[in-house]
Amino acid sequence: MNVLVTRKLPSSVLAKLHAIGSVDLYAGNAAIAPSELRARLVDTDALVCLLTDTIDRAAIDAAPKLKIIANIAVGYDNVDVAYARSRGIVVTNTPDVLTESVADFTWALILAITRRLSEGERVVRRGAWEGWGLGFMLGTELQGKQLGLVGFGRIGRAVAARASAFRMRVAYAARGTTQLPDAQPLSLDQLLNTSDVVSLHVPLTPETRHLIDKKALTRMKRSAYLINTSRGPIVDEAALAWALREHLLAGAALDVYEHEPAIHPDLLALENVLLVPHLGSATTETRTAMADLAVQNVIEVLGGRPAITPV
Ligand code: DGY
Repeated sequence: MNVLVTRKLPSSVLAKLHAIGSVDLYAGNAAIAPSELRARLVDTDALVCLLTDTIDRAAIDAAPKLKIIANIAVGYDNVDVAYARSRGIVVTNTPDVLTESVADFTWALILAITRRLSEGERVVRRGAWEGWGLGFMLGTELQGKQLGLVGFGRIGRAVAARASAFRMRVAYAARGTTQLPDAQPLSLDQLLNTSDVVSLHVPLTPETRHLIDKKALTRMKRSAYLINTSRGPIVDEAALAWALREHLLAGAALDVYEHEPAIHPDLLALENVLLVPHLGSATTETRTAMADLAVQNVIEVLGGRPAITPV
């Protein structure tokens, strides 16, 4: 069996693939070019790929023997799942193993933006700090405020579970009939209108693309903060930059972007936005577990068994 792996994996994980077949490892530091990907897919039975790889029709058509696309990410908007299915190819993702690290990271962003950590660090590093001042760089407290979660899946709930430690109440807007004690279901409009921190936890789909657009942003409280650890295109970045410039909201903390790794230049120019490079699941433990789950899926499917985490 031939397995194509589009980025270096931890050696302990890679060893499991070497045990079941021949591994073609793309060793580049950046995403594999689409033409290179297609060329390498010709004789491939299983593909282990990342969210930065676009697995579209052209890629799938280049892979007549492909049986599984194992995406190392919980999100799978980079894969044409419907087309893969129509070709009898199993697509898998890596849910659960990253839930806690992304939830922790979401709180890191909430605390960092409301207490102006990156802004303060920039002041220190450019030598502009003139000393302690009673009214200097004041942030916002969390206690007694409302955390509004857009999406209430595994990660949204894990974020909610940490809210009581900061004495925040939780509201959520989600499809379906999810009911949880201590969390108030609201429409998206109500949630945007009433929340002090709005955190996004929905997958990227045609319905959620630009869910947070100009109109949505104008519904938020001027004192509110927007957090995005889900997928960049859920937020219209140009609209967000405009809203932040006009102080229609207090700030935003972003881990993900519309055109990664590019960042909208208007955002780069603003102080009231914290920008980090898609680090939500970036711990050694979680990234190893994600790679391992993807590889376990390959081992199951190539062994003729059902995938562990099919999408
Ligand atoms: C995912 O798994 O979808 C995350 O964005 C990776 O950090």
